Amino acid sequence: MSNILTIAMPKGRIFEEAVELLRKADYKLPPEFDDSRKLIIDVAEEGLRFILAKPMDVATYVEHGVADVGIAGKDVLLEEERDVYELLDLKISHCYLAVAGLPDTKMNEVAPRVATKYPNVAEAYFREQGEQVEIIKLNGSIELAPIIGLSDRIVDIVSTGRTLKENGLSEYERIINVTSRFIVNPVSYRMKDKQIDEMVTRLSEVV
Ligand code: PRP
Repeated sequence: MSNILTIAMPKGRIFEEAVELLRKADYKLPPEFDDSRKLIIDVAEEGLRFILAKPMDVATYVEHGVADVGIAGKDVLLEEERDVYELLDLKISHCYLAVAGLPDTKMNEVAPRVATKYPNVAEAYFREQGEQVEIIKLNGSIELAPIIGLSDRIVDIVSTGRTLKENGLSEYERIINVTSRFIVNPVSYRMKDKQIDEMVTRLSEVV
């Protein structure tokens, strides 16, 4: 095993906050991090290799050990239940998972449908509520579903609340708060414990 630490980073809106946090922890990240289409960025001086993945895929890279560590949203960790250790709540990218739908509507009594990017979380939530629903898996623009009659409700991430508001939807229940977590591959943690502990310490000092 090389002594380079590979870190899987989520592309998109979490990325900037994650980079800012790493810089606060005194990792010297080159300007490529601010504007680049590269999917792998080596920072030799820090002994780090960054791979830039879709947020939903970060834990997959870490579970398979092609990344030693990663930054993943709690939403993804709840949905995917990957075999990784969650070592630190980075307290960035605050948002929450919620149930939403058209205002002042009841769920269909016969075969209510719920559209979501989080089928496992949604399924578990409605089961706990004692409601049997049909889950419809979508990959994005979830808010479309109730508007065009694909579903009665959605389970989705709410951050600023703008998407719900601008599409005329109401929030019905809050399921769980979400932040980004520092995750680790169990084997990497045994082999590279010093490097990983150092990173956790540096990050926890600035969280
Ligand atoms: C996420 C989420 C909501 C939106 C919430 O979608 O699925 O649609 O952000 O943010 P807001 O409360 O600040 O409006 P994202 O932009 O990641 O794209 P997606 O539709 O492809 O999932």
